[in-house]
Amino acid sequence: MSIKTFPDNFLWGGAFAGNQVEGAWNIDGKGLSVADVATYKPNVDNKDYSTHLSFSRKMIEKASHDISDKDYPKRRGNDFYHHYKEDLSLFAEMGFKVLRLSVAWTRLFPNGIEEKPNEKGIQFYKNVFKEMQKLNIKPIVTLSHYEMPLYLSQNYNGWVDRKVVDYFVRFATVCFEEFDEYVDYWLTFNEIDSIHRHPFTTAGIILEESEGKEEEDIYQALHHQFIASSLVTKIAHEKNSENKIGCMLTKLITYPLTCSPADIELTLKKNLENNFYADVQVKGEYPTMIEKSLKNRGIMIKMNSEDRQILKENTVDFLSFSYYMSMAESSNPDAERTPGNTVLGVKNPYLESTEWGWQIDPKGLKISLIELYDRYQIPLMVVENGMGAVDKVVNGRVRDPYRIEYFKQHFIEMKKAIDEGVELIGYTSWAPIDLVSAGTSQMSKRYGFVYVDADDEGRGSYDRIKKDSFDWYKEVIKTNGRNLFN
Ligand code: BG6
Repeated sequence: MSIKTFPDNFLWGGAFAGNQVEGAWNIDGKGLSVADVATYKPNVDNKDYSTHLSFSRKMIEKASHDISDKDYPKRRGNDFYHHYKEDLSLFAEMGFKVLRLSVAWTRLFPNGIEEKPNEKGIQFYKNVFKEMQKLNIKPIVTLSHYEMPLYLSQNYNGWVDRKVVDYFVRFATVCFEEFDEYVDYWLTFNEIDSIHRHPFTTAGIILEESEGKEEEDIYQALHHQFIASSLVTKIAHEKNSENKIGCMLTKLITYPLTCSPADIELTLKKNLENNFYADVQVKGEYPTMIEKSLKNRGIMIKMNSEDRQILKENTVDFLSFSYYMSMAESSNPDAERTPGNTVLGVKNPYLESTEWGWQIDPKGLKISLIELYDRYQIPLMVVENGMGAVDKVVNGRVRDPYRIEYFKQHFIEMKKAIDEGVELIGYTSWAPIDLVSAGTSQMSKRYGFVYVDADDEGRGSYDRIKKDSFDWYKEVIKTNGRNLFN
């Protein structure tokens, strides 16, 4: 019989990104980031993710001259910048071992191109890390989570230009130097694969400027991110042998809707495509079939002579990923579709969905863990998983049994994967506290164990209220998962 607890030293915690929580978008020297121009989508049609994540030069210019936060919820976040002590103490109360957070590039380098970093930005993160140290919570730091300097987007078309690699390396090097005593775990790019789904948010690419070579620009920018990721991995390893660097993927597992060979082939291709990004960062080379497919499509990536060696010699130490939902695939163009995490997939008749249409599939997490571990054989971390829902405060309480159920079923499947031999070293929920959603900039799409009293327009006291799931997660961590099986 298997032991009903997670492995000793399992890293339980939560995760968020600076641009979705911090607020304080224009103080202490922070520059504008691509997140600061993302607008709130009140009546967003979930199916229309490509529209709500696409940005024109005109929209960006308008937003960059707007000095109010009214239409730009990520400028407000949940005000973590001013509440960080209170929030961290709530996480400590839940027993967090780790907290995954990002360092906003624009707090250290407002436009990305400065020679010297902004001291006030460094100080803010040092204060946060010191507080975490007191509370015994280890940081897992994402270096790039949808928040690159807007200046680099406006002046270089983001990562399409190779110069951005140097600017990023400078930023990351400062992080490794300044935060060395606090941080051991680093992630380079959040969901590096998302560049295809939202090139502006992920890589600062203003697509209309690609003029017919959109795909080529996206692959070129992706290549630059791969190179940057390898270069900073090298630097981190040289600076401190304790540093552990991970890549980070959106795990978008796809099932065939039927067992027709046409559905199977389509599904296989989708899943191979989803693995491509980890192949490069874990194995250190582009898969041959991806190279062939790029060639067949006439896409030429410019590479320097040493690029392949840089990728090969600087692979990651662990693989992390987000997992929210799964989808199906079908060769029938009329198959019913449903939205997921910035994707539109075929609806799976066996699964329920969240209010945002994302299909809830705990078993898919187990399947993903097994598949990824078998393929890569390095430690895994689930660094995002959770359910966006509309929560209500009634008589001062937030009852969220649906969230507890969601997490419970996912944890049980994680445990089964571990029992079958998967080396899963940690789990950080998305998100431990309500924040501004990445896709729609809604505050009302709530993920937290802690409720934040703020609405989509930014009205509210910003007070923190523990939801029922708060005590439940606390018990999961305290018993190291034993309570899941009671
Ligand atoms: C992940 C992102 O893909 O999905 C997060 O890394 C994001 O930044 C999360 O918040 C959930 O998506 P959304 O759109 O509901 O916030």
